[in-house]
Amino acid sequence: MRADFQVRGRVAVVTGGSSGIGLRFVQAYLDAGAKVIAVSRTPGPLAELATQYSGFLVHVAADLSDISSIENLPKQLNEVFDQVDILVNAAGVNPRKDSDSLGLDEWNMTLNLNLTAPYILAQGLAKGMRERGWGRVINIASLQSERAFPNGIAYGATKGGVAQLTRAMAEEWSRDGVGVNAIGPGFFPTALTQRVFENSDLVDQLAAQTCIGRNGSLDDLVGPLMFLSSPASDYVTGQILYVDGGFTAK
Ligand SMILES: NC(=O)c1ccc[n+]([C@@H]2O[C@H](COP(=O)([O-])OP(=O)(O)OC[C@H]3O[C@@H](n4cnc5c(N)ncnc54)[C@H](OP(=O)(O)O)[C@@H]3O)[C@@H](O)[C@H]2O)c1
Repeated sequence: MRADFQVRGRVAVVTGGSSGIGLRFVQAYLDAGAKVIAVSRTPGPLAELATQYSGFLVHVAADLSDISSIENLPKQLNEVFDQVDILVNAAGVNPRKDSDSLGLDEWNMTLNLNLTAPYILAQGLAKGMRERGWGRVINIASLQSERAFPNGIAYGATKGGVAQLTRAMAEEWSRDGVGVNAIGPGFFPTALTQRVFENSDLVDQLAAQTCIGRNGSLDDLVGPLMFLSSPASDYVTGQILYVDGGFTAK
């Protein structure tokens, strides 16, 4: 028997699809023949991509940190292509502030976007997946799901929460065919990590902390995404798959 890594014909929702990791995932799903609904505040490069992949890519504008405004979003997303098979919660923010400078509004915004919105979307979209007997929720965890980094008080709290949310959702929905896992990226160059990657000493230091000896490139995430999105991972649930060059192994 050959493992089935197909996502052709599936419908995937990708939050944070306008930039960085989410944008790379949107492209990966489109290349693999899936339909994609990308959610972010602004379309950015998705406008051009939607013309290129007409009928396969729709951008839905939403501020996912504004929790009261997204209660009906799962219903809206289900209506775009009649169903949703895969949810990837990739939208996220890192205020990079210590506890002396982080305001309560920034704390709340970070929690809303990184932790509460993934729960609300998953809770709303998993219903249809469970009725159909197959689905996937893929959260984006972080090295900060496991470890403390400087200026990570709010971000680390949310990413620790994302890891446990992943396990708790897996406990509830896996028996109905919905696999719930997270990808835990190491360091990848995106808008979120721009300040890190501007510091070449830090970049070298982080690369040296991996087993492989380099930081990530966005293409490194595509294989793990396809594995977790497809029947190849039917017996994998409640896991955090670290794609970090072995950072967490050292
Ligand atoms: N890059 C890394 O090395 C790394 C490592 C570990 C984990 N991660 C995680 O990976 C995920 C993606 O990060 P990234 O590095 O790709 O960051 P990024 O390039 O900054 O992208 C962030 C995405 O989130 C969206 N977003 C931000 N605020 C939003 C809001 N209020 N409502 C809706 N969408 C919002 C942005 O779109 P708009 O601005 O258009 O709304 C954008 O599409 C995050 O969860 C991050 O924590 C990244």
